[in-house]
Parts: sequence; C-alpha cells; structure tokens
Amino acid sequence: MRRPRHAEPPPVVRPPGRQRLVLDVDTGIDDSLALLYAAAHPDVDLVAVTTCAGNVDVDQVVHNTLGVLELAGRPDVEVARGAAHPVGRALETTPETHGPTGTGHAVLSPAGSASPRTAVQLLVEEARRTPGEITLVTMGPLSNLAAAVLAEPDLPLLLRDVWVMGGTFAQAGNVHPRVEWNVHVDPEAVRIVLHQWSSATPRGAVPLTMMGLDVTETSIIRAADLVEASRAAGLDPAVEGLTDAEVMTTPLGSPVLDFARDALRFYFEFHDLYDGFYGAHVHDPFVVGAALDPGLVRASPTVVDVELGGQWTTGETIADWRGHFDKPVNAYVATAGDGAAYIRRLVASLADLARGAAG
Ligand code: RIB
Ligand code: CA
Repeated sequence: MRRPRHAEPPPVVRPPGRQRLVLDVDTGIDDSLALLYAAAHPDVDLVAVTTCAGNVDVDQVVHNTLGVLELAGRPDVEVARGAAHPVGRALETTPETHGPTGTGHAVLSPAGSASPRTAVQLLVEEARRTPGEITLVTMGPLSNLAAAVLAEPDLPLLLRDVWVMGGTFAQAGNVHPRVEWNVHVDPEAVRIVLHQWSSATPRGAVPLTMMGLDVTETSIIRAADLVEASRAAGLDPAVEGLTDAEVMTTPLGSPVLDFARDALRFYFEFHDLYDGFYGAHVHDPFVVGAALDPGLVRASPTVVDVELGGQWTTGETIADWRGHFDKPVNAYVATAGDGAAYIRRLVASLADLARGAAG
C-alpha cells in the first residue's frame, strides 16, 4: 500500500567555523588519507579517533592510526581501541585491497599507544560531556557506533552531526552487486544504528548523512596529484618523463608524501587490476571533506534500512524514496558529489603537511 512520502525533517543547522571531530576508522589506505586531511585542516579540532576491525584486525588498525597521526605531527590525539569483530558475525578483512598491514606498501612504526578508554567509552563519555558539539565521521564498519547506541540510546541526540562512509544506493557495490564493504563487514551493526536513528529523529536528533559508493567513487586520486602536492610544498621531485608507476616509486621529498605514495601504490595496483585505472577511489577522506563542507555533496532525506537475509543482498542499503517504510526519516543519502573538487583540497592539505614536515 502506498503511503505519503516521508515528512521532510527540519533543516539541519550547521553553524560555520571550527568543528570538533571524532573519526571512527578501520585504517586502511584511504582512512590514512582521511586522518592526514583532518589533522591538517585549520577548522578541525580533532578530539579523538576510535578504531574498529575492518580492512585489517583492530590491533593493526590501532597501530596504523597511531603511526599516521604521528606522521601528521599529532601524537597528542587520543586513539581508542574498539570492536575486534562485528556485532553478529565473524570478522572478514580485506588484505587484498589494503595490504596485509592495511597501509599498502607503507611501513609505520608508531611510538605511542592506545588510550585506556575503549572506543565505546570514549564516544559515550565525550558526547555526554559536550552535548551537541561533536561531529562523528565513520569510515569503517559501524560496530563501534552500534555498541555505543546500545550503551547510550540517546547518543543520536548528543551528537551534533554524523557522517557515514557506507553503502551504495544507485550503483554497483564493491563486494556484491549491491553491497558495499563497510556495511558488508557488519550489517547487523548498520541495522542497529539505522533503527536507533529512526527512533531518535522524532525527538530532535539530526539524521545521519550517508555517503555511499555512488558519490565516494567520484573522489579519485592519481600519481599526478601526489606530484602536485610535492611541488606545492616547494619540493622538487625528480619525476620528469616518468610514467605514473615510476612516480609511485620516486622520492617526493617529504615523509608524509612518501608514506602516501607507498600506501597508495598498493591501492593503485588493486584498482588497476579490478577497476582498470592506475589510481584510487579515496572514499573516506571525501566524507571528512563533506562533513566539513556539506556543499560538496547533494543529499536527500529518506528512510534507510539494510537487508540481512539474502544470499547476495545481505548488506544492501535500501533508500525508501517513495515512502513504503512507515518510519521516520533517519538519514540523508548523498545522491551527487564533487569528488574532483575535494581532491584539490586533499592535495592542498597534503602539501601543507609536507611543507610543515619538510620545513
Ligand atoms: O567501501 C569503501 C570502504 O571500505 C572504505 O572505508 C575503505 O577504507 C574500506 O574500509
Ligand atoms: Ca575505511
């Protein structure tokens, strides 16, 4: 039976200026770029980073996250260890995509260690301590966020904004025909989160904003972008006449850029093999960029749910554009985005870090 389209939620008010961010990661190669981007961004107060298993196991995610933040000159940022496995199924990692250590061909040797707080403790305690101030950006499975809303059902009301890299709504998935990796790893967690938001938005919670592959795959980085970052930092990489693959084994003059080069070289090899181009979709940093500047994407309110019962469709994210689900709006789904514009900003941030590190 058809029902009226969902009532539009009240407009989201996002005051300009500095934002207090918590990033939830499964550091991975594109998670690494998201961490570098946030660390370099002048309008970001990076409150903390929470980690969960996904691309690699959670202890490797902690190791990678600590290492990337130290490379960015931010060893002060609290890193909390989170979910070691999904809510309701065995952990599946993806070494073929991000490499056995999660950072491709790059090697990290962090000096620091994880916080004594768990990811759930950090999310709940910080949201309660500063209600309405924290913007959470998730870029891995939603295992931590699911556990946090079970611990604190009012969490959606205590967070200023939540942006999720996850799902696919109008184009092919990267795990199954209609399934994206972050949701695939822990679909039960996604169900918990989406349903919690459906019960919280009528009480004033801001709907989640979900950026799926439809939009994040417009965010493509290539070897030339790393060369541009090096030159913008005033470095002078010896890349004249080199092929892209040769660039990706050439010193770029900065530890940050050489890390990004070695991490991305693995990602480029993966995309060359599976997607037919020598570059990479960098999903996660685009979501951080959009959380800081929502004008980078176009998003529409709807009800999102996730399939849990199909052989090939478990993990499919379903946007109810025509009002079949008789439920309150729980999410804004990004339907378009300017990934190319975002990559220009990422390049500028990498150059800033390189300038600082090289300076
Ligand atoms: O499907 C893309 C997502 O899966 C990204 O977050 C990437 O890091 C992987 O975790
Ligand atoms: Ca990720």
